Amino acid sequence: MSDASTRSESVVQSANGSTKTPHINAETYAQMYDASVSQPDVFWGEHGQRIDWIKPFTKVKNTSFEPGNIDIRWFEDGTLNASANCIDRHLATRGDQTAIIWEPDDTSKQEPLHITYNDLHRSVSKMANVLKDLGVEKGDRVIIYLPMIPEAAYAMLACARIGAIHSIVFAGFSPDALGARVNGCGAKLVITADYAPRGGRETPLKSNTDTALLHCDDDVQCLVVKRTGGQTTWTDRDHDYNKLAEIASDDCPAVEMNAEDPLFILYTSGSTGQPKGVVHTTGGYMVYASMTHELVFDYHDGDIFWCTADVGWVTGHSYIVYGPLANGATTIMFEGVPTYPDAGRFWEVCEKHKVNQFYTAPTAIRALMGAGNEWVEKYDLSDLRVLGSVGEPINPEAWNWYNDVVGKGRCPIVDTFWQTETGGHMLTPLPGATELKPGSAQQPFFGVQPVVLEPTSGEIIEGNGVDGVLCMRDSWPGQMRTVWGDHERFEKTYFSDYKGYYFSGDGCRRDEDGDYWITGRVDDVINVSGHRMGTAEVESALVAHAKVAESAVVGYPHDVKGQGIYAYVTLMNGEEPSDELRKELEVWVRTEIGPIAKPDLIQWAPGLPKTRSGKIMRRILRKIAEDDFGSLGDTSTLADPSVVDDLIANRMNRG
Ligand code: WTA
Repeated sequence: MSDASTRSESVVQSANGSTKTPHINAETYAQMYDASVSQPDVFWGEHGQRIDWIKPFTKVKNTSFEPGNIDIRWFEDGTLNASANCIDRHLATRGDQTAIIWEPDDTSKQEPLHITYNDLHRSVSKMANVLKDLGVEKGDRVIIYLPMIPEAAYAMLACARIGAIHSIVFAGFSPDALGARVNGCGAKLVITADYAPRGGRETPLKSNTDTALLHCDDDVQCLVVKRTGGQTTWTDRDHDYNKLAEIASDDCPAVEMNAEDPLFILYTSGSTGQPKGVVHTTGGYMVYASMTHELVFDYHDGDIFWCTADVGWVTGHSYIVYGPLANGATTIMFEGVPTYPDAGRFWEVCEKHKVNQFYTAPTAIRALMGAGNEWVEKYDLSDLRVLGSVGEPINPEAWNWYNDVVGKGRCPIVDTFWQTETGGHMLTPLPGATELKPGSAQQPFFGVQPVVLEPTSGEIIEGNGVDGVLCMRDSWPGQMRTVWGDHERFEKTYFSDYKGYYFSGDGCRRDEDGDYWITGRVDDVINVSGHRMGTAEVESALVAHAKVAESAVVGYPHDVKGQGIYAYVTLMNGEEPSDELRKELEVWVRTEIGPIAKPDLIQWAPGLPKTRSGKIMRRILRKIAEDDFGSLGDTSTLADPSVVDDLIANRMNRG
């Protein structure tokens, strides 16, 4: 660890000799952090200027975490346009600079594209005009269900340009999940593609969309981008994007939006019920996404930035599109997967495009670590300066491999803790300012005030060397504003367990030095391969199967995925367990939700451990799934304690 600390204290250097003085050092971090929490109006009033306003704001922070009155507003009287901030304001100085490098799934079929800010301006304006011609207006919702192709970014920025609210559905989600989201936000239009090539395979997005729209209003239209040119069916509601874009004008003025007008909705999993639509608004989100992008990755003008996420997740929103483009950066959009055509793909792309900042998830790091060092060593990674990690806790073994083998011991690793709800990074080291500790997200970003609470009493735990649940004492500009169409659910989910605080849903430890360590979700949300999943969603998919009477789903430690999905299934009377039925249920969940929700292990459970009032004791199920049944705790309150013996005897995950 000693080399990590010296490295972060001085300059951040790539092996090819280029050195950059980090934007922030330990001293400026301390000063700025202090200012950000003691005088938030002054601090954010100043940093709010990093983006362009049409009408400047005069009010900065107006937020309340008060029970019954959860109300979050930032820069509320300012007006701006997010698309203009990502494109138009750069045209005079960097019109010919590459904004997006698109790296296709299969480079033997297609070359990467270098899209300049001028190109981006043209394409986004055309797409915006196509949307307007289809009747999309300010405030309308548009679902984006696309592969990782440039049109996904054009679609986001085109919506933002005309004031429509986009909601991206990850292309790995099933027709059912897509349909639920179209209906959930009352979308007018779905933008999709014929097919999504990924890892050498193709997902039939258009046909998925057709299936999804069978359950939606007849008025919902569909705009289809040609990706592969493969065959698709065509219905009355479909429009050919490529044809319309060809004739559309490339002049489309950006609409003036209020800072608090919604920019996007993104559905995410919670501990109960169906996914909820997280709403982010325009001004605060743009300030926060761009500022965290610049400072957390120590982005300097001219750098090539690569975040390997998909735009279907919040990481892709903030750190492929909005943050980098607001900063006039060059950002990479990668259509493929880490292991196609082989386990050297990430490093080949880093070499080819001379990547300076590389941001990925621990699950990918673990998978590539397992493939062997030779895949990394084949490539020249000397341009790398900063490495990032996101989505789940990174175990020290993976951290060390990332540090030694990928970063050659000279690239600070920023382990960024944040959430769909937070819009941008919350806890993270800063390159050049923080002495790194493998596995710790370390320190709050500016304006973020973490507190550790005692889980049952909700009392604040002061001091260091303490454990509890992670909450935030006050608002930050990137915070979500509401749950789409259900402000009550917003309050109930995030502000009711611990009154006066934003509750993250995560447990955490503050160590002796005051550094934060995320210990994982304390609710029924699991992180599978960096994808967030509600156990309740998988359960409701399982019980929707005719042969399933009941089910309980928990996470368990998985070497590569971080957490795997462990499903206990009770069959209907008269149904017999079999391997075929197990496969049938796996396929069922894939089709109900998507491949990422497929259970890794299914255990047939003649009964589930329940309290006398019928509540499933998940704590016990988690322990059995973890193969740690020596400490089940008190089982005397169970209605039928004998079910536990059966579950232990037939457990699926034996160490
Ligand atoms: C987890 C992803 C530990 C956490 C940006 C959180 C992390 C959930 C980290 C949000 C990290 C994210 N260390 N855990 N660096 N980053 N998490 O909404 O449990 O998909 O609550 O946002 O991922 O997942 P989401």
